[in-house]
Amino acid sequence: MDPRLKRRDLLAAGIGFGALGLAGATGFARAGERPDLPALPELPIDRSEPGLARAHLVAAPLASPLAGNLLGYAGSYPGPLLRLREGERLQLTFENRTGAAGNLHYHGLSVDPGGRGDNPWIVVPQGERFRYEFDLPPGNAGLHWYHPHLHGHVGLSAFAQMRGLVGPILVERAEPDGLPPADDRILVLHDMAIADGQIRWPRLNDWVVGREGTRLLVNGVQRPRITARRAWLRLRLVNTANARYWRLAPSDAGPLVLVAQDGSLLAAPEPIDEIFLPPGARAEVMIPVAGRAGFDLMYRPYARMGSVHTAEFPLIEVRPETPATAAPELPSRLADWPRFDPAAAARRREVPIAMLAICGRLYDGSRVDFPVAAGSSEIWTLRNVDLMDHPVHLHSWRFEALALNGAPATRRARLDTCNLRPGDALDIGIRFDRFRGRSLVHCHIVEHADQGMMAVIEAA
Ligand code: C2O
Ligand code: CU
Repeated sequence: MDPRLKRRDLLAAGIGFGALGLAGATGFARAGERPDLPALPELPIDRSEPGLARAHLVAAPLASPLAGNLLGYAGSYPGPLLRLREGERLQLTFENRTGAAGNLHYHGLSVDPGGRGDNPWIVVPQGERFRYEFDLPPGNAGLHWYHPHLHGHVGLSAFAQMRGLVGPILVERAEPDGLPPADDRILVLHDMAIADGQIRWPRLNDWVVGREGTRLLVNGVQRPRITARRAWLRLRLVNTANARYWRLAPSDAGPLVLVAQDGSLLAAPEPIDEIFLPPGARAEVMIPVAGRAGFDLMYRPYARMGSVHTAEFPLIEVRPETPATAAPELPSRLADWPRFDPAAAARRREVPIAMLAICGRLYDGSRVDFPVAAGSSEIWTLRNVDLMDHPVHLHSWRFEALALNGAPATRRARLDTCNLRPGDALDIGIRFDRFRGRSLVHCHIVEHADQGMMAVIEAA
């Protein structure tokens, strides 16, 4: 190829030669070419003392071509992967250089909610550090994530999260999970509302329905490509967007198998037509790619009050470069955690939720809304009595969905986040095991949580 032509192509795409190496990191690629999905950087961890994982995480403004006021963790958006191991103790020093108060929530970890644990009552002022420290007991393996969770400063968390303060956590399993070898990718799904090169403070409508951005980003880039070289592609997805719901399906209508939700392996793999991720949720899928032609994972619009997109479009290109050998089979069973026993539930509760209110009340961090007996289990009927969807998230304790609108659940999964359509009544079984202390249940449309759509649980 004539080098001048090549240069002209690059200039036409708005990139000089010197910027080529940044293509993956910035999301800019040659016209017609999709950027490769960037691998996430990993947060360095010091394991010189056995059983202890030490790390330092700084949140600060980040220079990026995406927007002029991005924030990043450890100089990166999305934040670096925090790779942990079941059974170890984490000692993480969080340093806040964002210019406003902040803190950290470890979404999905089942750890001590008090003291220096996953305690959202902690406030770290601008310029200060705080050392989080807690044990990571077995049962925490899987994909989780971290983000700010500050109360009493309405809007700060929602604004910071949209500006880029999101990062994945992967807790490695002590035992192999039995799934066949695969190209294993973590996908951080996020969106940003950018106007004139800036992310603005949310507006009235954002506070009402939750804020969706028009820029859809996967590991920080738009419409990436994944080259698959093994017979299976394993995607671990986390929805870190403030309010966007994601429905993803292969454009060739080929097979897609769900193996985990919210970090926990399902009891058995389940073929599905599409991936559904409400805000906060995670899903893991296995996709057989051996001998399969290239396809796209299509983004399908989700109809809810406040959704921005109305048409389907290709979000991620999958390009198999795999010989047409048969893919090894998936195991028929995955995990055997004890099923929730409704007969053993100590108590049932009705929990109506509506815009900003849980059980008719706005958040008050000094009040306990749900006193529960430590070690007991309960069945809650979450009732969406509102006109819009609300994704409900529980800190510290996982739950099983038992029945939706009276119909028993067919899938066995352990969750920390689930969506409720208007009018839905969802029975969930919660085991308040392992920890005592105060924790939260809230809507994960972050603008709702920020305005007080949260309630306090205390296990004592
Ligand atoms: Cu990811 Cu309390 O939230
Ligand atoms: Cu909500």
